[in-house]
Amino acid sequence: MATSAPSSGLELRSLVSDDGVLELSLVESPVVDPTATQVVVGVKAAPINPSDLGLLLAGADVGAADFGGTAERPTVRITLEARTMRSLAGRVGKSLPVGNEGAGVVVSTGSDPTAKALLGKAVAIAGGAMYAEYRCVDASQCLVLPEGMPPKVGASSFVNPMTTLGMIGTMRNEGHKGLIHTAAASNLGQMLVKLCNEEHVALVNVVRTPAQEQLLRSIGATHVCNSTAPTFMSDLIDAIGDTGATIAFDAVGGGPLASQILTCMEAASVASMTDYSRYGSTTHKQVYIYGGLDTGPTVLTRSFGFAWGLGGWLVSSFLQSVSPAEFQALRQRVVAGLDSTFASSYTKEVSLAEALRPAALAGYSKKATGEKYLVTPGSR
Ligand SMILES: NC(=O)c1ccc[n+]([C@@H]2O[C@H](COP(=O)([O-])OP(=O)(O)OC[C@H]3O[C@@H](n4cnc5c(N)ncnc54)[C@H](OP(=O)(O)O)[C@@H]3O)[C@@H](O)[C@H]2O)c1
Repeated sequence: MATSAPSSGLELRSLVSDDGVLELSLVESPVVDPTATQVVVGVKAAPINPSDLGLLLAGADVGAADFGGTAERPTVRITLEARTMRSLAGRVGKSLPVGNEGAGVVVSTGSDPTAKALLGKAVAIAGGAMYAEYRCVDASQCLVLPEGMPPKVGASSFVNPMTTLGMIGTMRNEGHKGLIHTAAASNLGQMLVKLCNEEHVALVNVVRTPAQEQLLRSIGATHVCNSTAPTFMSDLIDAIGDTGATIAFDAVGGGPLASQILTCMEAASVASMTDYSRYGSTTHKQVYIYGGLDTGPTVLTRSFGFAWGLGGWLVSSFLQSVSPAEFQALRQRVVAGLDSTFASSYTKEVSLAEALRPAALAGYSKKATGEKYLVTPGSR
């Protein structure tokens, strides 16, 4: 086994105790010896995505955080509300590693040729537990980055890019000819604008500020509707009329947005009907809630006939529906576009310790447009 991995490394952990306190801390964990087909990756960069925040913060109110520990080993403690604890029963008492995806350099390998071939290579991984200095994974989980590409560029190579490809795949599989996307100025939304243009897919973007409208138009979006504009509903009906979009991916989840989208899809469908039906149009309208940016109740005001569906959508479930060959093709598509179509941008880079300090916690927990953070575990 070739090796230059130390025997242990720092790892960020999230623990919910049975007395209802969330504790974030850094622990020194042993770096395991890779088996024949495994590699140890020195993690250089891992994004903080909304899905990571769910596990990291467990729904805690960061405004109520107590900061302690030392400069090298800070800690964060937040008392959780009783109603939040009810949904956390499965993780109480478990010190959980965090970070869905990231990239780094292979520093040690097992004896199998597939593993040995990766020594010294920059690779991206979506193996979980990426907010750590070292991560041991099977060689088959590594996506080799193009020669010379810094790990930082490949850090977000799975969650958001594969989701945009999955949205288009789902749209096509279910026979729709255009799609609607909400919270569309997100990192993912910006990728989707570029991907839909490349794929000639009609896309309607829903945002909530004029600045977000401008941002999306500047990267090539045609249809952008602002949900806070007084003309939102008529703007959305017009955009649906132009595109024929009958499927939506809603990252917001809470509030009336999903219902408004179904209502506008129905209005656009009814407008093209020649005969009146009191049951509404027969065109199937589908909204998938794929995020929880608004954690409040989803409010449906049923004024959209009877041919509709509302469901949840996860990229992992989509990927289970594709063949291994299709999966590899999607991954290679992402690699080819990591510095263009699938590029991510970050407002700040923070070490593992900095990620637990007040300013960083306040920053990344906002999930605001253009304010994604990158954890750089290799820097202390
Ligand atoms: N289901 C899946 O498989 C899957 C996979 C990947 C990503 N996702 C979801 O995709 C979404 C985007 O991820 P990302 O990494 O691209 O996010 P991001 O870059 O961090 O951007 C978050 C965006 O959400 C907006 N936002 C935040 N709270 C909002 C609210 N209450 N109402 C409306 N907009 C709000 C922000 O706009 P403001 O600046 O206006 O706050 C910002 O544009 C997330 O919800 C994530 O969970 C789901």
